[in-house]
Amino acid sequence: MSVYSALNIEDLRVLAKKRLTKGLFEFCDRGSEDDVALRHNREALERIKLRSRVLNDTSSRHTKSEIFGAPVGMPVVIGPTGPAGFVWYRGETALAQAAAKAGIPFTVASTSNTPMERIVDEGGGGRLWYHLYVWRDMEASLKAISRAEAAGFEALVLTVDSTVPYNREFDVRNGTTMPVRLTPRNIADLVTHPRWLFGTVGRYVMADGHLPRYLNIDMPEGLSSTGVRDFLFKNDSLDWDFLGRIRDLWPRKLVVKGILHPDDAAKCAKCGVDAVVISNHGGISSDAALAPIDVLPSVVRELGDRMTVIVDSGFRRDSDILKGLALGADAVIVGRATLYGVSAGGEPGATRALEILQAEIRRTMGVMGLARVADITRDHVVLPHELPL
Ligand SMILES: Cc1cc2nc3c(=O)[nH]c(=O)nc-3n(C[C@H](O)[C@H](O)[C@H](O)COP(=O)(O)O)c2cc1C
Repeated sequence: MSVYSALNIEDLRVLAKKRLTKGLFEFCDRGSEDDVALRHNREALERIKLRSRVLNDTSSRHTKSEIFGAPVGMPVVIGPTGPAGFVWYRGETALAQAAAKAGIPFTVASTSNTPMERIVDEGGGGRLWYHLYVWRDMEASLKAISRAEAAGFEALVLTVDSTVPYNREFDVRNGTTMPVRLTPRNIADLVTHPRWLFGTVGRYVMADGHLPRYLNIDMPEGLSSTGVRDFLFKNDSLDWDFLGRIRDLWPRKLVVKGILHPDDAAKCAKCGVDAVVISNHGGISSDAALAPIDVLPSVVRELGDRMTVIVDSGFRRDSDILKGLALGADAVIVGRATLYGVSAGGEPGATRALEILQAEIRRTMGVMGLARVADITRDHVVLPHELPL
């Protein structure tokens, strides 16, 4: 199977698993602790059912919509995923190009390995958002804001659910730590994955003269890998005043990612934020987290039309995306779906992931009697407690 013959996101996941080392694959694929939140995100989506309407002419149906008043090919955004540049040489640029082709925004992660300006220049000219993690050295993090503004990013995505390290015991066991722990087992893992080793790590060394580095973080030169690890500790003192400071610094669209309570969404609205992302970081931040899809209705009720609402975590199929939209989201973020695609085959792999999602959405719109995604309403979904007996 190649990325071109992949029929669904799971096929791309299988291809990614073959190409990446076990340590890197699990870093991308798993959640935290016992993977309960990861599974629960899927279960929560699967428990919701779609309710079709019939005999509506859907022959000219399309997936086009709008985010922040500007057109998108479908109401989907590629979210920030730190290892995009580790799974593929300049994977961030590949994702940006795929997003541009699909007419949707792509979010560049703080820990990208390609300079943000280069992603703007080579990313295909689509809509680009920049994601901000705030390190202990807060001022160093804030420098990325002026850089992203000068580079022309449309939106800044401040992630607020990751102020402490994730509890990912499998990463420790696999040696996927900083510095990477070399054991006979993971050396064997490396040498048995030559396509990734030479095609990605080798290419950075040959083309750029160094191993992948964090090129958007204002870090002191010459840090050892333990120095880099210590620098990249997140800042756990963030509060609402800090959000106000970011609002003052960033003149364009501001998105706060990692909201799971309607009161916090309301506070974001008061701070002048333009959009919230209801997210549990794809099941990574806490293994006991609520599933964002379950939280979405209460946030939408709280916010009304005051702000754009985006949801993520666990979305792998068209029907998942349609469920999010029916429950009031303006768009859905995908993380792993396109990360599997780019891991499996660079830009064509990421493009294939988006093509699959778009074709699936279009098909199910036909089943549901929808000519435009914007026509979907709360009546098109049935929550578990509303199921007819
Ligand atoms: C490997 C990996 C790395 C991620 N890195 C970041 C990151 O740097 N910043 C961030 O805000 N979210 C990050 N996320 C979370 C995604 O942006 C998104 O919220 C999540 O992947 C959505 O769930 P899904 O993967 O099930 O689609 C990461 C997710 C994964 C799987």
